[in-house]
Amino acid sequence: MQRFESTRLSHCGETGTWVMPSFRRQGVGKSLWKKGIFPWCRKNGFKHLGFFVMANNKTALCFYENLGFHICGYHRKLILSNKSGYSDALEMELWID
Ligand SMILES: CC(C)(COP(=O)(O)OP(=O)(O)OC[C@H]1O[C@@H](n2cnc3c(N)ncnc32)[C@H](O)[C@@H]1OP(=O)(O)O)[C@@H](O)C(=O)NCCC(=O)NCCS
Repeated sequence: MQRFESTRLSHCGETGTWVMPSFRRQGVGKSLWKKGIFPWCRKNGFKHLGFFVMANNKTALCFYENLGFHICGYHRKLILSNKSGYSDALEMELWID
């Protein structure tokens, strides 16, 4: 989890999730968030979580929507990779209690 340096954004965090391929679709990612990341964020004063995912990453979209995140932005050609050049990105966010 990365916290922004500005005090005005000190309640905001940014992160990603990666589960080893052989352990996917077994509830690992969901448990990681529910039992680990969300409680840790609450304990450490994070209120708003947000990040970018590649617009064609349907798995990530389903995964994060399942956790309560929603799409709040669309950015054309935001992500640059050596393999595929520029890709569009979706911005997702969630306010946590
Ligand atoms: C996205 C990722 C972290 C999901 O981890 P996971 O452990 O496989 O996810 P879970 O098994 O906990 O799934 C939780 C929910 O997410 C959704 N989901 C997960 N994988 C999915 C898939 N391939 N297709 C559709 N929905 C999916 C489902 O709603 C699922 O609930 P269900 O199993 O009850 O249907 C994993 O696929 C991954 O590491 N992908 C590569 C990295 C990446 O793209 N990260 C996201 C961008 S930061």
